[in-house]
Amino acid sequence: CAQSGGGESDGPKDPGDIVVGFAQVGAESGWRTANTTDIKAAFEEAGIPLKFSDAQQKQENQIKAIRSYIQQGVDVIAFSPVIESGWDAVLKEAKDAEIPVVLTDRAVDSKDDSLYVSFLGSDFIEEGKKAGEWLVEEYADSTDPVNIIQLEGTTGAAPALDRAEGFADVIAADEKFQVVASQTGDFTRAGGKQVTEALLKSNPDVNVIYAHNDDMGLGAIEAIEAAGLVPGTDIKIITVDAVKDGMQALADGKINFIVECSPLLGKQLVEIVEKVVAGEEVEKRIITEETTFTQEQAIEALPDRQY
Ligand code: AHR
Repeated sequence: CAQSGGGESDGPKDPGDIVVGFAQVGAESGWRTANTTDIKAAFEEAGIPLKFSDAQQKQENQIKAIRSYIQQGVDVIAFSPVIESGWDAVLKEAKDAEIPVVLTDRAVDSKDDSLYVSFLGSDFIEEGKKAGEWLVEEYADSTDPVNIIQLEGTTGAAPALDRAEGFADVIAADEKFQVVASQTGDFTRAGGKQVTEALLKSNPDVNVIYAHNDDMGLGAIEAIEAAGLVPGTDIKIITVDAVKDGMQALADGKINFIVECSPLLGKQLVEIVEKVVAGEEVEKRIITEETTFTQEQAIEALPDRQY
């Protein structure tokens, strides 16, 4: 039973008459800022009014925002869930109000997939696997232990859970790879710095830091340098995202490998909204296309990097 934005009975809606409510996670990272900018720009270009709210990384704020969009009777609600669990009640309220919901970037763990019309975003397990595959390749000729610190994203968030899972699956193939410590840095630069500072003290023999995003990796670089070590050389760093600051650190040799996660979801989200409002079918799962970057590839890509 596809929900529609109410465009069918009175003929197609003009873009200017469609109202979309978007509940964003926050502004925790360079990725998130780029994602917000891209979404706002895409809706502006399409001439579709967008109501925007920033949940400051708190689920209760996001639930409040969604409830307010339901009350206002918007045509479509889109949101990027802060964490994976706990959405069924509010999604059911949207469904009862016949307001279609589009998930962007992050998944929910609801068993009932009729609670949303589409999920647009990355395959985070695949991203974790790519990080692990680079590591396995990098240490292919060594039999020494490889001690890894993992900087996790926000606890309970889909990218934190899945990037850990994909990475663990790949490195399990060789027991020389050991995650000696794993803690959340909440996807922020300050969090990455603080956690790395503490973990370096209890794990002085660490070889690799795997950070679930660039910002935490950039924070780790500061902590490593403050400890008198050379990031990228004394401790290798793998991150996910490929925002400009991360790419610059990779080009400078302070990060060793980046798995791309694209924040540019705006255009595709607009397309989904237009289709849903017109009562057309949309794909249930749309996976973002992304790549990986070595130092050479970062140097080549940097001049054209938009975010
Ligand atoms: O959900 C995507 C993740 O959220 C990005 O990797 C991270 O930078 C952001 O905060």
